[in-house]
Amino acid sequence: MSHRFKYLLGEEDIPRSWYNLQADLPKPLPPVIHPGTLQPIGPDDLAPLFPMALIGQEVSQERHIEIPEPVLEAYRLWRPTPLHRAWRLEQALDTPAHIYYKNESVSPVGSHKLNTAIPQVFYNQQEGVKALTTETGAGQWGSALAMAAQYFGLSLEVYMVKVSYQQKPYRRSMIQAYGAEVTPSPSEKTHAGRAILEKFPDSTGSLGIAISEAVEAAASSGGKKKYSLGSVLNHVLMHQTVIGEESLKQMELAGEYPDVVIGCVGGGSNFGGFAIPFVRENLVRGKKTRVLAVEPMASPSLTKGQYVYDFGDTAATTPLMKMYTLGHSFIPAPIHAGGLRYHGMAPLICHLYDLKLIEAVAHHQNPVFEAAVTFARAEGIIPAPEAAHAIKSAIDEALRCKKSGKREVIAFNLSGHGHFDMAAYDDYFAKKLEDYEYPAAAVKAALAELPKVS
Ligand SMILES: Cc1ncc(COP(=O)(O)O)c(C=O)c1O
Repeated sequence: MSHRFKYLLGEEDIPRSWYNLQADLPKPLPPVIHPGTLQPIGPDDLAPLFPMALIGQEVSQERHIEIPEPVLEAYRLWRPTPLHRAWRLEQALDTPAHIYYKNESVSPVGSHKLNTAIPQVFYNQQEGVKALTTETGAGQWGSALAMAAQYFGLSLEVYMVKVSYQQKPYRRSMIQAYGAEVTPSPSEKTHAGRAILEKFPDSTGSLGIAISEAVEAAASSGGKKKYSLGSVLNHVLMHQTVIGEESLKQMELAGEYPDVVIGCVGGGSNFGGFAIPFVRENLVRGKKTRVLAVEPMASPSLTKGQYVYDFGDTAATTPLMKMYTLGHSFIPAPIHAGGLRYHGMAPLICHLYDLKLIEAVAHHQNPVFEAAVTFARAEGIIPAPEAAHAIKSAIDEALRCKKSGKREVIAFNLSGHGHFDMAAYDDYFAKKLEDYEYPAAAVKAALAELPKVS
């Protein structure tokens, strides 16, 4: 019997609206608070950084938010993305499990990040903004926002975590090819960057530091520039729900429904985008899918962090968000999954974890790369190191099924390809990848610097 490898939708099947889980939460999200007054922040606090349309989406309780036509038109460049049945991976693992993956690597920039880059730039353009700033970890977000900025005619300044700037020179070239300016972070360009360099001259940077620099560049521009964040915030996760909504339709075409859905978590956006529509089906329709978030052992905010109010950035300039955090001053080891090196996690994902609606697990990078290579040899796609965390857990689940003889349905999100991450694969093949032990002392020190919120 010939196998069906892909479940494809037509352009007319791209979702017309984003799904907002806030409308269906059993308990509302804790408010974001002002670090000075410790009172919930209002739209005016965010207005120097974000356009009003996105601030509105951040706090909206509407279940569905319509996707504007120019955004849908841009989505049509690559959406809907395929859902694959990983037949060859199943055979390689000799598992009775059925494995599916949603392939977000087919976007022009190679990852899911474009799903939110496009609407974020669009809403800024609608409100007359001409220039944006942002940070990027692995360079996937920077290249996505650079493409979107080019698409809608805005200029863009990207602060790229220094270790990624060095490890991934071609992501940097890609950002430049789309016309954006890219600076290694920490840099001499901002107070935040200079303060870090003074304390740690050899700092390899982190997402938290790069966020501080990009926020400062926008906040000190006299209103000329706004800031754009590629993960963590509610509106970002909401834009990403196109992934899960399409997947639900595609699973229906496949005639199956997942027992477990899996995604890697850095700030929480690809996991949220893929998993949240399945969480809704659990909450609203009584489905029983397990929902699994996968993080790196070098930065295990969900599995080892504390659920408290903390800053989103290293320089302690953002509003305070309640999240599982390792402390804003914690700087994760320079693992190759640069997009997962974040001290905190999206408040929405943390809320779900706190309510026990999702599970979490952490992996070291060597077994993650082993899983990436197993996947690449079976399915042909070289995954991004971040996405390989989800693959590692999908393989673990499939092997669990092999042991128990259970035929479960496993679906994971392949958030991006690793074509610009081959130096990481080289290090893996040369046995140069370090499995950094959980940095208990550094986390303890960082947690001691948490803001005091009663
Ligand atoms: C391919 C890929 N997957 C996952 C992530 C992690 O981010 P998030 O948790 O926001 O999806 C990144 C971040 O850079 C990424 O580039």
